[in-house]
Amino acid sequence: MLITKIYKADEIQAAAAELKKGELIAFPTETVYGLGADATNEQAVKRVYLAKGRPSDNPLIVTVSSLEMVKKYVVDLNEDAQKLIKHFWPGPLTLIFKIKPGSLSKAVTGGLETAAFRMPANRVTRELITRVGVPLVGPSANTSGKPSPTTAAHVFHDLEGRIAGIVDDGPTTVGVESTILDMSVTTPVVLRPGAVLGEELERFLAKKVVFDRHKVAAEETPKAPGMKYKHYAPAAQVLIVKEADWSAALAWAKKQHEEVGVMALNENLQSEKPVNCLVYDLGKDIYTASQHLFAGLRYFDNKKQIHYILAAAFPEEGLGAAYMNRLRKAAGNQFFKN
Ligand code: TXA
Ligand code: MG
Repeated sequence: MLITKIYKADEIQAAAAELKKGELIAFPTETVYGLGADATNEQAVKRVYLAKGRPSDNPLIVTVSSLEMVKKYVVDLNEDAQKLIKHFWPGPLTLIFKIKPGSLSKAVTGGLETAAFRMPANRVTRELITRVGVPLVGPSANTSGKPSPTTAAHVFHDLEGRIAGIVDDGPTTVGVESTILDMSVTTPVVLRPGAVLGEELERFLAKKVVFDRHKVAAEETPKAPGMKYKHYAPAAQVLIVKEADWSAALAWAKKQHEEVGVMALNENLQSEKPVNCLVYDLGKDIYTASQHLFAGLRYFDNKKQIHYILAAAFPEEGLGAAYMNRLRKAAGNQFFKN
């Protein structure tokens, strides 16, 4: 078993040295923590799948700190691609491009002719990548199937003894993973909703972007291979509660023999106090709710007696689309039924 070291923001020289040796180091981003390995070292990349228990046909994001790193692999960065990069990077937008054949290992791309590129809005991580000198693969640093990690402690909980270290730069701010936009097709498609909104991309590019959540959810063979797997699932059964069903759900919880977990906005928890429930406060709005969603699911995971988690639904627009996308997966799409 490895000893998993915690590196502070001013200790990244040592973390970079480990990455250069082919070791795995988790890194902070504005969305969730990523599990880093030298993207040009096939052995190191393969160990990322092992450490996470991730199916090997699910490709990884290539995390970069400069445009030059992207240009090395991408066939052609057209005008739209360059505009997006200039405007949204560093930031929570992952872009999929066609790559030069053989320029990235199959372990990174899952054998696809495209790859996903992302430049995170975390200065420490960009500096880490620059010190390593090559891109890092960066899937979320959780055990496959569990909620994504938004603190170094979450990463430690899942991957202690399996990775060489974690760079700790505090809790992440966005809380849900980056928006994934497929730019390898004629009409760009949002494959995963995130903090950069489909509407925003459409307006910015002044052209049609496919971001209809129903289309993405209903697709039989999802274009982002990762979307087909079980995701974000805590030990307890999550039930999504629509606003109109909130009182009925609390009345139901009160009658249960086991303690029920409840996650909702502060105002909802204040206006009607849950009885016989363990409460997790999602803060004041959809921004704080998204920021704390995964931490909340993990909170109840540590309480063995919790059988159900009632989680507040949000309207599926704006950031609510990303929040609900993750919550639906955590719940296996189960809603509380009155
Ligand atoms: O915010 C994020 O994007 C975080 C942080 C750590 O950067 N990373 C992240 O990585 O969420 P991961 O591996 O958990 O999710 C990446 C998703 C997967 O669903 C994968 O299937 C998809 O991106 N993906 C990767 N390469 C792809 C490609 N060439 N075409 C389509 N989907 C791709
Ligand atoms: Mg993930």
